[in-house]
Amino acid sequence: EWTPESIIAEGVRRVREQVGNAPVLSAVSGGVDSSVATALVHRAVGDQLTAVFVDTGMLRKGEREQVETAFRKNLGVRLITVNAVEEFLDRLEGVTDPEGKRKIIGETFIRIFEGQARRLGNPPFLVQGTIYPDVVESSAPDRQKAHKIKSHHNVGGLPEDMTFQLVEPLRYLFKDEVRLVGEALGLPPELVWRQPFPGPGLAVRCLGEITWERLERLREADAIFTGELTAAGLLNQRLMDEPGRIAQAFAVLLPVRSVGVMGDSRTYQEVVALRAVTTEDFMTADWARIPHELLSKIASRIVNEVPGVNRVVYDLTSKPPATIEWE
Ligand code: XMP
Repeated sequence: EWTPESIIAEGVRRVREQVGNAPVLSAVSGGVDSSVATALVHRAVGDQLTAVFVDTGMLRKGEREQVETAFRKNLGVRLITVNAVEEFLDRLEGVTDPEGKRKIIGETFIRIFEGQARRLGNPPFLVQGTIYPDVVESSAPDRQKAHKIKSHHNVGGLPEDMTFQLVEPLRYLFKDEVRLVGEALGLPPELVWRQPFPGPGLAVRCLGEITWERLERLREADAIFTGELTAAGLLNQRLMDEPGRIAQAFAVLLPVRSVGVMGDSRTYQEVVALRAVTTEDFMTADWARIPHELLSKIASRIVNEVPGVNRVVYDLTSKPPATIEWE
């Protein structure tokens, strides 16, 4: 019988058999799969594992702290956080094209990660959070085509000329099994049940030029939006089969300013778009019917609490023809 415990026991046995006494490296992105894979390998080999977490500056509010607490404090994993915010912002300066952003972020991430691997004496093994649907998908003929539509550069992805041997303890698991294993390994529910987040992070939700100030604006608006949805019980990822459950919700900062009024004076500030969808598989999606009262509360909180934003709009398009993300 398959239980999280039996999956873990079997995974631990295989990982030990594969790596022996050798050092193992892992890139943690804060995503579910890389987190659970890392926690499982840590259970198997303890301090032979070093995890690397790159702060790209494109993370959501509180995300870095959440990852550090989960791994370092709760699980006792040796976790190195690389503060690469300046480097990412420098390289992204003046870049507004979505594919350009993705490319720069992917390349910069790989460079930084390779540097860390060198510093650690190039460990022979690398943990990958590959899950069963990834295995199936990467052998599907549509894969190439999908890649052309939007280059899904995953931060935490693999250096292309890699010389690592891969440790892939989740290769035979489906997403819901991965989450249960993650919980059983002691990862916090917020991390295990979190909504999907693109590899390039907030870069593709900060339309137009990326600056620290604009990222902060976006982070605040996003935290208000998702915080209110969570408080209202609408974004509880644990209720996977609840009809109308919101699968993904986030704020987008538009590269547009609009006129507003505050007291006696005119304002000319940025616009936040809210995106929330219901979906089974993220291939098609419908916009979420969030109660108007709640939308109203969220909009007024954002314009009152986020400096530089004077207007909030709600995205009413389904996928297709729109995508879930805006870039
Ligand atoms: P779209 O925008 O194509 O997104 O409708 C479908 C799902 O994929 C997520 N997404 C990404 N996930 N790396 C990822 O791991 C990426 O670069 C990326 N881009 C989009 C998106 O958030 C949605 O859940």
